[in-house]
Amino acid sequence: MARSLPPGLWGLACAGGELSLEGTALAGLAERWGSPLFVVDGAAVEENVRRFRRVPPGGSVEVDVFYSYKTNPVVELLRRLSGLGVGAEVVSPYELWLARRLGVEPSRIVYNGPGKTPAFARTLVDSDLLVTHLNHREEIGVLARAAAERGRRTAVGIRVATSDSWSGKFGVPIAGGRALAAYEEALACASLRVVGVHAHRGTAIEDADTLVRFVREVLEFCDTLHARLGLDVELLDLGGSLAAPTVLPLDASTLPVGEQVAGRLSVEEYLGVLVGEVEAHFGRAGRPAPRVLLEPGRAMTADTQLLLCRVASLNAAGPGPAHAILDAGENIAHILHREYHEIFHTGRWGQGPALPYVLDGPTCSPMDRLRDAVELPLLRVGDTLAVMDAGAYLVPFSNSFCFPQPGIVLLDGGRETLIRRPETYEDMIARDLAAAGGTL
Ligand SMILES: Cc1ncc(COP(=O)(O)O)c(C=O)c1O
Repeated sequence: MARSLPPGLWGLACAGGELSLEGTALAGLAERWGSPLFVVDGAAVEENVRRFRRVPPGGSVEVDVFYSYKTNPVVELLRRLSGLGVGAEVVSPYELWLARRLGVEPSRIVYNGPGKTPAFARTLVDSDLLVTHLNHREEIGVLARAAAERGRRTAVGIRVATSDSWSGKFGVPIAGGRALAAYEEALACASLRVVGVHAHRGTAIEDADTLVRFVREVLEFCDTLHARLGLDVELLDLGGSLAAPTVLPLDASTLPVGEQVAGRLSVEEYLGVLVGEVEAHFGRAGRPAPRVLLEPGRAMTADTQLLLCRVASLNAAGPGPAHAILDAGENIAHILHREYHEIFHTGRWGQGPALPYVLDGPTCSPMDRLRDAVELPLLRVGDTLAVMDAGAYLVPFSNSFCFPQPGIVLLDGGRETLIRRPETYEDMIARDLAAAGGTL
């Protein structure tokens, strides 16, 4: 596929090949703060929240947004999202602790995820969250017993799997009446208040047809719950999965990337279709629509962050294209193995002929490759590249394999703030007891 998207899609300006964000040259950021470096675009975060929170005009359905913490768990980002009215979708004891530590009210927290132990079920009961979604049937008893032990009634939903969502580990299939049987069991537990249905597709939703199919299957299941069990759900949680606007599956299409991106469902279209479906469905059924919860991850923050990295070395000795060895690789951006992310030269964008390169990471692993074939202006050692759409699933999956992890700078109205300092060598051994005990 033809590979190239214009920098303006991310609000980057270009003058003489030099890329800048809000008047700040990208290469200058790497000079001041070091490389590799994540850069968060504060204005883009606010804009995405505004778009997600704008309910389509004329709609009577209440939509509430909960950011999927695992997507980019950076404290300053999470604090900002919370300050902008976005709730927290958390999936582990750590993430629940983090949300509470950041002052998020229990009524603004949704708990998901498989693997709830009896001990943690007690914590969930005591936390009194907006809703805890039970991942599969066994969790019904685990939570019901914990709630009964505490003398409480806990608000729960059950994660259901549609015909095209992730399943197996996740959720109870609607097919074959299995989800219905799980609801029947949950409703029989006096210590559970069954208020919700949860469905997260998992595989990215890129177009309206896919979204409609998914939503309709869940809505039909709501009808089954009403007809068979007399249950009218209060909370309809449709998960995340909206595709990030400028991230593409790697090599899945022969269409030019620009055309693929142009066909993507926007946040506005996503909300319009989704709310329209819910409204029409409950209108026809003559029942009040439930409150709709959404758990966006990638669509909320992917395009609000970029990764700056430098060309550490060039190896042009082989028969093919030159290998540019970068100071960031799969230790920081492993997701590039699966996803097409635009990569810009920050100092000579669009300058001179485009040359073919292989982009490798710095670690001693043959797997450490970011891109097999990319065309960039002539590369020199020390040049800074920008990997776009680095705000989803890069930070949480980064590791300290051979190299420390990068810092994170927030760019906001031209002001630069270091919101996570780079990892130091001392940080990397701080949990080794010889180091902590001073015997090193
Ligand atoms: C339950 C749940 N909700 C929301 C999300 C966020 O998904 P995405 O980043 O695709 O929007 C995930 C991520 O896998 C998830 O598992």
